[in-house]
Amino acid sequence: MSITLEQIRKLLKEHGQEHLLKYYDELDDAGKERLLTQIAGLDFSVVELGKSGKGEAARGKITPLNAMELPEIEARKEEFQKIGLEAIRNTKAGAVMLAGGMGTRLGSDNPKGMYDIGLTKHVYIFERLIDNLMDVVKEAGCPVPLFIMTSDKNDAATRAFFKEHESFGYDPSYIHFFIQELAPATDYDGKIYLEQKDKVSTSPNGNGGWYSSMARCGILDTVKDYGIEWLNTFAVDNVLQRIADPVFLGATIDAHAAVGAKVVKKAAPDEKVGVICLEDGKPSIVEYYDLTEELMNTKDEKGEPAYNFGVILNYLFKVSELEKIRSRKMPLHVVEKKIPCLDENGNPVKPEAPNGFKYETLVLDMIHLASSCLPFEVVREREFAPIKNKTGIDSVESARKLCQDLGIEL
Ligand code: UTP
Repeated sequence: MSITLEQIRKLLKEHGQEHLLKYYDELDDAGKERLLTQIAGLDFSVVELGKSGKGEAARGKITPLNAMELPEIEARKEEFQKIGLEAIRNTKAGAVMLAGGMGTRLGSDNPKGMYDIGLTKHVYIFERLIDNLMDVVKEAGCPVPLFIMTSDKNDAATRAFFKEHESFGYDPSYIHFFIQELAPATDYDGKIYLEQKDKVSTSPNGNGGWYSSMARCGILDTVKDYGIEWLNTFAVDNVLQRIADPVFLGATIDAHAAVGAKVVKKAAPDEKVGVICLEDGKPSIVEYYDLTEELMNTKDEKGEPAYNFGVILNYLFKVSELEKIRSRKMPLHVVEKKIPCLDENGNPVKPEAPNGFKYETLVLDMIHLASSCLPFEVVREREFAPIKNKTGIDSVESARKLCQDLGIEL
């Protein structure tokens, strides 16, 4: 073993986490090794930042950022499409599916993309996304490299599912999986939980680390080998997601923007979506809970709400800009969560209610680290059907209805 028990004891003492060795003496040799190896690889810095409350930066001065709206996009559609298709044909664009989340709200043990939204036949979330991307592949006449981010918790199941379904007809040589990191999960006092006697509780470290995970896994070499200049990052759970959209790509290239963000007009001033804006003169997203009454009621020169466009987790990033973003510090979000842990007798339990924190960075914070951003309006009913829950708002039910309204057979 490369790291000794003594070294681990010292490390844990430094971070006030000695309790992680509480059951060490009960473990067999393999268990001991597993636990020490896991502890040696833990990122304690996130817990420290969370405890000190220094993870989340204070907000700067918020001002409006104009979006490119539907009438302008419609008028210039062919021009943008031509630019976008040319970039795709020259393999200048790739897509990154963020599929490392736990999908806790949906409540399935499988990766979210394996969820079947079909009614008369199987329609898996992954399948819907691949079908959407295939539209662009057909239009461009060439494949788009697709990078899929998983976590240690769902990687094997995701890969096996793609294999079983022959990648839903996508050329597998253009699909590249990579794994994001995990961060320790803690109780409310910042003490890391044990999930089993030989295993620390961990949770995926948020969707903000996708590019640094690509770098760490060595998959950026593949990005460079293709000659990719733009990466379209999108959430796994929006079943109407338009991926590598040539018009969006063309508009972002034409605007000389470092980043493009798909946005929808807010349904109501208090809708719970992150709103695109400027913060201290730089592009940013203000979360709905940070949007004050005053900002909500501010009007632009046309009399429309000045903060009227919400992001839908579909961004285009210029690769050269991502290199700069990677060198900057991302804020850390501390999120309440139900964390599987051990009870006082050392038995594993799955809590019914939140019992601590997970620590995450978010892709939306990358926007503020970019030099410029083009917010690009899309029609909500055509492109936004997120699945977070089984029923109600942003659910399997609401997404099914939106798919059916567009004539998608389920
Ligand atoms: P959400 O924030 O909705 O999280 O993810 P989630 O894990 O899917 O669902 P809940 O909150 O546990 O119910 C938005 C997108 O970011 C991805 C998700 O897979 C989804 O596509 N994501 C989230 C990651 O890739 N990694 C993460 O660590 C978190």
